[in-house]
Amino acid sequence: MENTVQLLLEEYQIGDLRLKNRMVMASLTRGRATNTGLVPTPLMARYYAQRASAGLILSEGTWVNSKSIGFINVPGIYTQEQVEGWKLVTEAVHNKGGLIFSQIGHIGAASHPDFFDGELPAGPSAINPQNHSYTPQGFKDTLTPREFTVAEIKQTIQDYRQAAKNAKEAGFDGIEVHAQAGMLIPQFLSLATNHRTDEYGGSIENRARIIFEILDVILEVWESTRVAIKFAPVAYNHVGIVTPDKETIPMFQYILKKLNDYNLAFLHIVGPAETLTGTPVEALQDNYFSHFRYHYSGRLMANLGFTQESGNAILKEGIADLVSFGAPFIANPDLPVRFKYNLPLSAINQDTLYSGDENGYTDYPEAVF
Ligand SMILES: Cc1cc2nc3c(=O)[nH]c(=O)nc-3n(C[C@H](O)[C@H](O)[C@H](O)COP(=O)(O)O)c2cc1C
Repeated sequence: MENTVQLLLEEYQIGDLRLKNRMVMASLTRGRATNTGLVPTPLMARYYAQRASAGLILSEGTWVNSKSIGFINVPGIYTQEQVEGWKLVTEAVHNKGGLIFSQIGHIGAASHPDFFDGELPAGPSAINPQNHSYTPQGFKDTLTPREFTVAEIKQTIQDYRQAAKNAKEAGFDGIEVHAQAGMLIPQFLSLATNHRTDEYGGSIENRARIIFEILDVILEVWESTRVAIKFAPVAYNHVGIVTPDKETIPMFQYILKKLNDYNLAFLHIVGPAETLTGTPVEALQDNYFSHFRYHYSGRLMANLGFTQESGNAILKEGIADLVSFGAPFIANPDLPVRFKYNLPLSAINQDTLYSGDENGYTDYPEAVF
């Protein structure tokens, strides 16, 4: 990429926020909140500060309440202690000139009774998502959950509001709603896991309702240009029965049409991990991000498998405004510098992705050149 302009390294404006480049660090669950309160630690603050050269950091997925948990040692943002822990993180990132949004989410049915003193987790319907939950005793198969009552759904939505408020108090620059594969929101969108017959089930409009109710309460707390949402519409690589179905394409067209009125910071879309040929979303095989670009009029962030070359290319083609990088930021804390000087990338240690304290976490060095 020598002597060519790299659009990834250009500044970018979102509302009143100035990003120093168009490379975003995607959310990465790392399992380092190794304490019973699921409180962010000084080690986590060091890890995020090391990555402050990203135009924007999206925090690891973070629980909105004690019922939303489904993965070991993942931090929450629903207690005062957790808020105080996150303050260490946001201050450390800001001191290095970085920006950081809090990714808030709920895992719904893809959890396990081990997290709830033997009580079943709740989901849209009493249908086993056939996923795995990483519990303190290792990976366990999910079970058939309880069905959420309407009152519980309304309470959960209020918990998103409180989490968003807590994130503001903790010093975050914005919010990303976690609607990625495996989480509660896609369980509502899916024909396989949502068999409800009330206003949260049945039609596309009803199954998508929870998204807009969550966004609406967050917008009571935050400016719209500080709020984003992340979807993985074609997450076939994910374990379980929440996979694209015959209504996925019209579902997302409906969602995008409504989101056009929200003036969000960005819509974050995860791309296909494998071919879509022969699937119900085959029509997106050759025009995946262009499809979202066409139907969504706001800022679009593209994700999955991007490299220096393909990231710059999708910006040049005008198909996306921002590109997020997940795995590359794990072993390359200074990823934008590596791109700037065309330096080689370091490899990830897979054994320390979700555990290992500072090993494979804060000990990946910056490039020497
Ligand atoms: C170790 C690991 C943890 C992840 N945790 C999250 C998470 O908490 N929230 C989320 O939305 N995505 C999560 N992801 C997905 C990434 O944000 C990203 O979408 C994915 O890695 C594809 O981007 P990449 O090809 O640049 O890595 C995780 C990915 C990895 C590798």
